[in-house]
Amino acid sequence: MDPAASMSSADRIAQFDKYVIPNYTRYPISLVRGEGSHCWDAEGKRYLDLFPGWGCNIIGHCPPKVVQAIKDQAEKLIHMPNTWYMEPQGDFAEMLCTRSFGKAFFCNSGAEANEAAIKLARLHGMKEGRYRIITFEKGFHGRTLATTAATAQPKFHEGIGPLVAGFKYSPYGDLDAVAELVDHETAAIMIEPIQGEGGVRIPPDGYLAGLRRIADENGCLLIFDEVQTGMGRTGTWFGYQQWDVKPDILSLAKGIAAGVACGAMICRTELAPDLRPGMHASTFGGNPLATAAGIATMQTIEEDNLLENATAMSARYRSHFEQLQQELPVISQIRNRGMMVGVELTIPSTPAVGKCMERGVLINATQGTTIRLLPALNITAEEVDEGFAVIADVIREMAAEAE
Ligand SMILES: Cc1ncc(COP(=O)(O)O)c(C=O)c1O
Repeated sequence: MDPAASMSSADRIAQFDKYVIPNYTRYPISLVRGEGSHCWDAEGKRYLDLFPGWGCNIIGHCPPKVVQAIKDQAEKLIHMPNTWYMEPQGDFAEMLCTRSFGKAFFCNSGAEANEAAIKLARLHGMKEGRYRIITFEKGFHGRTLATTAATAQPKFHEGIGPLVAGFKYSPYGDLDAVAELVDHETAAIMIEPIQGEGGVRIPPDGYLAGLRRIADENGCLLIFDEVQTGMGRTGTWFGYQQWDVKPDILSLAKGIAAGVACGAMICRTELAPDLRPGMHASTFGGNPLATAAGIATMQTIEEDNLLENATAMSARYRSHFEQLQQELPVISQIRNRGMMVGVELTIPSTPAVGKCMERGVLINATQGTTIRLLPALNITAEEVDEGFAVIADVIREMAAEAE
C-alpha cells in the first residue's frame, strides 16, 4: 500500500502547513475516498456529503460509468491540443448543444468559461463601441481578474486593484435599476439564473424574462452564468429552462464532467464567428479525458432519470424544512430548485457546518445566514431524510443557544 494513503489527518495537515499556500480555509480532516453521496476521512469516519465537491460531483463521488469512461479514455488518448479534431470533444459538444443551443468552446473552470463569455460579448459589441457588462450584487463569477471584477461583492475586490474596467453593478431583483444602467456602451447583462454563492437566491417572477426584454430592446447580449445551475442541477438540463428564458451566451463548469476539471461556454451560432481563430484559446480545454467524463456524466443523468430524481428530492427537502420551520422560527425562508437548497436563518449559519461535520454530515454556509446544500442528483430519499435529521438537530441546538 502507498504509505501516503495511511497518513493520518493530523500528519496530512502538517504536510499542507509546510508545503501548500494557505489561501483556503480548510476543515481539519483529510478525505481519502468517496462513493455516491458518502466519503471517508483518513481515520475511516464516514460522512454523508450534501455539498459534494462544491457542486462539482454532480452525480456523487466516483460515479461508476464516469470512472469507467475515464479509464477507457486514458488508455486511448489523454491529451491532444486543439490544433486537431478529437472524438470525445465533438461528441460532448453535440450532447451539450442539442440540449441547449448553439456552439461550444471548452476550457477548464467556471472562471475561464466566464472569461470566454466576457471576451465574446466584447468582441461582438466592439463594432458598435459596446464593452460594458452589467452584473449583480451578491453574484459570483470566479477569481480571475476579469471575473473578480464581474463579481459584485466588495470583499473579493480588496487589495487587488485596479480592477478590470467596464463592469457596472445592479441591485438584484430590480428591473428598473438594470434599465437605468444599460446604455449604448453596454455589451451584455450577465447573471446567474439562481445566485448560488449569493445564498441560493431565486429570481422573482418575470425577472429573467424582464432582463431578456431589456437586453433585446437595447441591442446587448444576455449571458447566463450556469456554472452552478447547469448540468441538471435545477431539475432541467440548464437553469434557464426553468424559466424558459434563453440567453445568448451560457457558461458552464463545476458538474459538467462529474468532478473532472472542465468548463464550457455555449453561444448562439451567429455569435460564434466573433471568437475567431487566434482570439481565444485554452491548452487543456476540451481535452479527451475531461470530455469523455462529460459524455458519461450526461449519459448517467439521462439513463438513471436523475433530472426527475432531483426534482422529487427537492420537494422532499422543502416539505421537511417547511415542517421544521413551524417548530423553529429561526428558519426565515426556504429557497430550493432541484438540488440547490438554501435555508435562511435569523441567526448565523456558519456554526452549522462544523456541528453537522461532527455528526458526519457535510454541508455549506454562505452569506453569513444561509445554509446551502448542493446534493448529488442521484441522492436517495433515505439519504435526504438522514441528512435532514442531522441538520434539524443542529438548527434546534443553535436556536436554543441563541435564546
Ligand atoms: C456561478 C459561478 N460562477 C463561476 C464560478 C467560478 O468557477 P471556478 O471556481 O471553477 O472558476 C463559480 C464557483 O463557485 C460559480 O458558482
